[in-house]
Parts: sequence; C-alpha cells; structure tokens
Amino acid sequence: MPRITVPEFTGFKAAHRKIAMVTAYDFAFARLVDAAGIEGILVGDSMSMVVQGHDSTLPVTLDEMIYHAEMVGRAVEHALVVVDMPFPSFHLGTHRAIENAGRILKEARCQAVKLEGGVEQAETIAALVRAGIPVMAHCGLRPQSIHTLGGYKVQRDEAELMADAQAAEAAGAFAIVLECIPRGLAKKITDAISIPTIGIGAGADCDGQVLVLHDLLGITSGTMPRFVKTFADLKTDVTRAVTQYRDEVRSGAFPAKEQGYE
Ligand code: KIV
Repeated sequence: MPRITVPEFTGFKAAHRKIAMVTAYDFAFARLVDAAGIEGILVGDSMSMVVQGHDSTLPVTLDEMIYHAEMVGRAVEHALVVVDMPFPSFHLGTHRAIENAGRILKEARCQAVKLEGGVEQAETIAALVRAGIPVMAHCGLRPQSIHTLGGYKVQRDEAELMADAQAAEAAGAFAIVLECIPRGLAKKITDAISIPTIGIGAGADCDGQVLVLHDLLGITSGTMPRFVKTFADLKTDVTRAVTQYRDEVRSGAFPAKEQGYE
C-alpha cells in the first residue's frame, strides 16, 4: 500500500475521517506502528526526553533528528511521516530554515516537517511551503518555549491561539497540532480553519489525535500529563520478561535443548 500523501492527509478533514498519529523514533517501533494502520507517524523532538533522557526537548540536535528519522523512514510503508524541526533550526532566518528542513526531506524518507509556532513563524512556514516542503504547525503549548511559558501549562489565550492557527493556515501549513488547550477552544479553532487540527491534550473535537508512543505503551516513567491514556503496560511486561530471563540464566533453565545445536 502506498504511503498516505500530504493532500490525502489534509483531505481527511473534509471527509470527516478522524486522524490517528503517534510518534516513533526507530525502525522496530515504526514498523509496528505503521502495521497498525494509523494515518501519521511523527518523529517528534520528544525523542530528546523519552529516548535520550533529557529533561526537555531543547537538547536534541538536527543531526540526531535526521539519524532517527532515517530509521523511521526505512520502516514506514503506509503512514505519512512527519519530522520535528528541533530548536533552533527554524529560528535562524528563512534561508537556514529551508536548508535545515531540506536536509530532513533529503536525508530521511519523510514527507513533511513540523515546527512550533503560529503568527511569529508565518513567514518561515510560507517560505518552506514555497520551497515545496510541507509544514505541520504546532500551536498551544510549545515545549521548545518552555522557559518563556514558565512550565508545561494549559494555554488559554483564545485570541492568541486562534490568530496562531489562522496565521499557520494562511501561510500554507497542511495541518496544525494543538497541544494542551481547553476542549472548547480547540473546537472553535477546528471549526474556524479548513486544515486538520491534531490534538494532544485538546479534547475530542479535533480532527485527529497524537500521542507520544512511549506514553501510550506505558514505557515512560514518572508522572504523566493528564491528557495521556496508556493503552498497554510495557514497563511491567519488559521488567517481568527480563527478570525471568535473568532467573533462567542463573538457574540454568535457559538455554534449554531446543535453543541449542547438536
Ligand atoms: O515531539 C513530539 O512528540 C510532539 C508531539 C507531542 C505533538 O511534538
């Protein structure tokens, strides 16, 4: 089955088809996620936290994003693949933004980039789109601006968020992530624009949803944001499996005859 294209992805809104997106950062998980039949895979800069162990999304580099996007790109056959532009790869002028986003599209088998911002990134979004680089915008809670926002908090400024979403659409974005905003506001934005809204902590009225894979699978440690639902408990399963392996190595039960050669 060929990959979902950017126009097809955008068209899901008019077709009233809800969009399921999830992050992936490597070949093995991207394969599994793609086989499950979701519409979009995001190589998110959340990798900085869930894979690299940093306490924010700021440290991950462009080279590291591309390295992981290549793994995901090799695995995915069906879903649209979007790669996050890490901080500050799109803040250095439109020329550098095109250069950096161009590297992502050239070096990884992906179809689009995502960047955080609305009104203040409209010029950059328009420049990327003119260069043939599809852009997913990201408004509401913008984790790359954590120090300016003062924490991972629900964003409630209706006028500002509506303006961000409309500016991103007008600049040519093909979809917008809405992170951590009240459900009613997410609905107003979703009704006001013609491109899909992909919510994370933005309620059920968005055109689609995205979650961090490690949160969804129950791998992430520590307190989880309220908007996360864990659909599996892999932390327990992995610990149980590795503990059993350890015990069988110690007791001599593993490897058994069937795992050996005569
Ligand atoms: O980096 C990421 O995983 C994201 C999603 C949470 C939307 O930006």
